[in-house]
Amino acid sequence: MLEVTHLSKSYTSGTQVYSVLKDVSLKVEKGEFVAVMGPSGSGKTTLLNCISCFIPYEEGKILLKDRNISHLEERELSKVRNRQMGFVFQDFMLLDGLTVFENICLPQIIARRPVVQMEEKARNICRLFGIEKIMDKYPAEISGGERQRTAVARALMNQPYVILADEPTGNLDSKSCRAVIDAFLQAKEEMGATIFMVTHDSFAASFCDRVIVLKDGQVYGELMRTGSRRAFMDQLLDTIRTLGGDRDDYE
Ligand SMILES: Nc1ncnc2c1ncn2[C@@H]1O[C@H](COP(=O)(O)OP(=O)(O)O)[C@@H](O)[C@H]1O
Ligand SMILES: [Mg+2]
Repeated sequence: MLEVTHLSKSYTSGTQVYSVLKDVSLKVEKGEFVAVMGPSGSGKTTLLNCISCFIPYEEGKILLKDRNISHLEERELSKVRNRQMGFVFQDFMLLDGLTVFENICLPQIIARRPVVQMEEKARNICRLFGIEKIMDKYPAEISGGERQRTAVARALMNQPYVILADEPTGNLDSKSCRAVIDAFLQAKEEMGATIFMVTHDSFAASFCDRVIVLKDGQVYGELMRTGSRRAFMDQLLDTIRTLGGDRDDYE
């Protein structure tokens, strides 16, 4: 569904060139819930921004459902972003002046979908995520977990090929964190969604099918979840210890 091959990206500051991603290759299959884990500064956000083509990169290819999206023109790219990608950010990015329901409808309004169909779809997603009771509230009136579930619901509205999430649990307490993860799991199980999440949080990553470990801009290794979530989390913590990242990043 999503394939990144030999991606390299550097930032230039003055005369200095910082290489941030070094020959990164990875693949996400349809219906998979995959995390990219790595210490802060390892290039996770940069990777996600390259995948969504928000920033340019020197080398490599991004394939979304077998289509090379690396060098699309802006108009075509906006279409791909709106219809084939769903985004969930750390700071929610909900519009304060719109209700939960209206926020969820937004991607369909942008895609100019018919209103009746859109509202029905939004209601179904709200029901699935257990947020139908807060549909008419504004973001300021709901909890962090509810806001994030709203953001996940919104990301799903156009049935994207892939959901891209950057530290979606980053600002949340453990209960809200669980609410977000549950929303992803529901999206995967009940809607067949494909989810690609970057995180430094091994608890969040332990719910995934597979975890790609990033270190200093390179793929350091990959772990498949085979047994229980708990065992997977221990395995992730072990890997991080060997990796020698900043421990505080993973608590
Ligand atoms: N716009 C930018 N310009 C210059 N350097 C950047 C920029 N964005 C990120 N970096 C640097 O790239 C490295 C990777 O950053 P980032 O992708 O944000 O890592 P992560 O999300 O894993 O914490 C860091 O050293 C960061 O300082
Ligand atoms: Mg980041």
